[in-house]
Amino acid sequence: MTPASEKILITGATGFLGSWSIAGLVDRGIQVVASDISTDYRRLALLKPDLPPDLVTFRTCDVTDADGLAALVAETQPTGIIHLAALQIPQCRKTPALGAAINIGGHINVFEAARAQGIDRIVYTSSIAAKPRGPANAPSNLYGVFKKTDEEISRLYWEDYRVPSLGLRPYVVYGVGRDDGETSAITRAIEAAALGRSYEIPFSSRSCFQFAADVADVFCRAVLSDWDGALISDVTDTVHGTEDVVAAIREVVPGAEVTCAETVRISPADGFDTAPLRAVIGDVPETPLREGIRSTVALYRQIAASQSAAAP
Ligand SMILES: NC(=O)c1ccc[n+]([C@@H]2O[C@H](COP(=O)([O-])OP(=O)(O)OC[C@H]3O[C@@H](n4cnc5c(N)ncnc54)[C@H](O)[C@@H]3O)[C@@H](O)[C@H]2O)c1
Repeated sequence: MTPASEKILITGATGFLGSWSIAGLVDRGIQVVASDISTDYRRLALLKPDLPPDLVTFRTCDVTDADGLAALVAETQPTGIIHLAALQIPQCRKTPALGAAINIGGHINVFEAARAQGIDRIVYTSSIAAKPRGPANAPSNLYGVFKKTDEEISRLYWEDYRVPSLGLRPYVVYGVGRDDGETSAITRAIEAAALGRSYEIPFSSRSCFQFAADVADVFCRAVLSDWDGALISDVTDTVHGTEDVVAAIREVVPGAEVTCAETVRISPADGFDTAPLRAVIGDVPETPLREGIRSTVALYRQIAASQSAAAP
């Protein structure tokens, strides 16, 4: 297919990764149907203040509304779907039944809508939280259990109905617009350093820290590719400690008052497999930590400067 004949539906489009994905698709000249339960596109406005008006259609849609979602897919006839709508770890902890309705029920509704219209490219976000860990050798929170369930649901939609899907397991993604969720502390630390404030990351861990532009690039290239099966893939296998993040921030912003607490956050630090993703898209982009932080600092400063210039 040529870029002009592609049209990608994004769920969770007002969110952090939704905003970066819209930007990535629009930069490729691809039409986007941006859907979300929210209409607050402030993150996208920060990232892409010059959004071309003709490429993006904005639609309000709750993924728990099976009929509404099916109607949206039937009407807009996307060539692929990037499914991102979800509640994150703290919200799943606070409202577990709603978390299950959105993170599992919404996932099923996306697959049903795609099946009805014969859409054969679904890229969805699982999470590293789906991976087993700790003494129970299992996901350590409900969010992770929901994401693991989504992977199994996707497998069954391939086995039963031949709906192909690619479930990606981003780890700790950082970048402008990451202002929600437990691991948003990494982005908050970078933002604080950029704006001359102090910040303590409330945990220490060894994790993969991924620049949002890289993750969005992966989503965009994957949803424009073809594959068979219900694939599940990690997005990176490069591990750093939070102390490396702090050191990189201090390199980019000398004198930054950023630290990390000693409380250990248990996260998987090995056993990653990016082969399924590489089989679909080829090389996986991996911006070095210092460069991703440098870009993020620059963008936060640019946004702050334009906001203060616009202030009365
Ligand atoms: N950011 C990360 O580091 C990370 C890591 C692993 C996995 N993920 C997953 O990637 C996806 C996107 O993450 P994000 O960081 O952009 O999260 P986000 O919270 O910024 O975005 C989620 C979006 O889903 C929308 N949403 C919530 N309920 C909805 C509903 N009922 N119907 C339609 N939309 C609804 C929200 O309005 C929000 O815009 C999520 O599935 C998340 O679990 C993110």
